[in-house]
Amino acid sequence: MSLHTISVDLGERSYPIIIGSRLIPDVGRYVAPLRSDDMVVILSVPPADRLYGPAVRESLARSGIPSETVLVPDREEAKTIATYARVVEELLRMKAGRGATIIALGGGCVGDLAGFVAATYMRGVRLIHIPTTLLAQVDSSIGGKAALNLPDAKNIMGAFHQPALVLSDTSSLLTLPPREVRCGAAELIKYGAIMDLPLLEQLEREREQLLRLEEEATMRAVFRAAELKAGVVARDERELSGLRVLLNFGHTLGHAVEAAMEYRGFSHGESVAIGMAGEVRLAEELGMVTRGTVERLESLISAYGLPTRLEGISRKTLIGLMAHDKKVAARRLRFALPEKLGKGTVVSDPPGDAIDEALKGVVKDD
Ligand SMILES: NC(=O)c1ccc[n+]([C@@H]2O[C@H](COP(=O)([O-])OP(=O)(O)OC[C@H]3O[C@@H](n4cnc5c(N)ncnc54)[C@H](O)[C@@H]3O)[C@@H](O)[C@H]2O)c1
Ligand SMILES: [Zn+2]
Repeated sequence: MSLHTISVDLGERSYPIIIGSRLIPDVGRYVAPLRSDDMVVILSVPPADRLYGPAVRESLARSGIPSETVLVPDREEAKTIATYARVVEELLRMKAGRGATIIALGGGCVGDLAGFVAATYMRGVRLIHIPTTLLAQVDSSIGGKAALNLPDAKNIMGAFHQPALVLSDTSSLLTLPPREVRCGAAELIKYGAIMDLPLLEQLEREREQLLRLEEEATMRAVFRAAELKAGVVARDERELSGLRVLLNFGHTLGHAVEAAMEYRGFSHGESVAIGMAGEVRLAEELGMVTRGTVERLESLISAYGLPTRLEGISRKTLIGLMAHDKKVAARRLRFALPEKLGKGTVVSDPPGDAIDEALKGVVKDD
């Protein structure tokens, strides 16, 4: 088993991300030095718990760590206030104290919930992430953002609460449905396009290996993305300097696509794929990228089986949703755009007609 460790450097809140294949059978060994005598509670969703819960519990037990498990509904249902309240009541019933450790086992949804629970239960308890989706391994488990949804507002409640440890077992990705692999790939393309040309080139060159989740190629891509995110988080933990905003490439438009479909159409990764297709066109409209950039990025997105076009939603709707988002956040409309592939910059309030022109490229028949 080859192991790679990345440190997220945040002073006394620093923590390691350990990436390896077949890591889950050894989690006890990594958790043991961190826990206090208080309870360890695994927070998971049925698909992840069925596949990996037993191995996590056995490994903890072998290291002398008893654990409790709390299961919550899958996907975005994990991030409701009702689910959150139920988990907190459950922790109280179990008499979990301030020294408790919460282990998030699953994708980004249960990870976001676990982060919010860990940030707020008794004003904060220890959190460990064991992400089992590609998206969670390359993105959501790193950086300490936790969130819940309200019916009409995704991620509107949140907290920053860094984990004490992230354990990414790349072999756990082998059970993912292909659509979830593609969603993770969308975030990988994002990192490559905005921050790292060599990663983008790996995605171009090793598409088949990555879509098949071959060990070596997958490990390299997960490691590089985690390293990029860790670097950004260490320099701009709370999204104050603008650096962390760079990671939003494809997301300003992507979030509008998700909202326009009421979160029931394209998934997050698919919406970000369309978002990147639209936003790279915006970079072209603004004269930021050279000829051929739009085509190169679009063909990579398509090669991963991700969408680059949207039907049945008008440009006006998307522009309205982006403007609404901006109003709610009381800030300017910001896009993270490539200057060239592998290097990005943040652009605030670009001209409306440039946005409209860019959208013409992704929105079919208006
Ligand atoms: N906190 C952050 O910084 C951050 C960043 C990006 C995204 N997010 C959030 O992450 C969420 C999306 O996360 P996601 O894409 O991981 O979705 P998800 O958590 O819904 O997981 C997708 C599906 O895969 C299942 N699953 C998990 N691991 C599996 C495995 N190994 N094998 C088979 N099935 C498995 C899940 O149970 C679920 O059905 C969104 O809510 C988004 O807002 C947060
Ligand atoms: Zn994303």
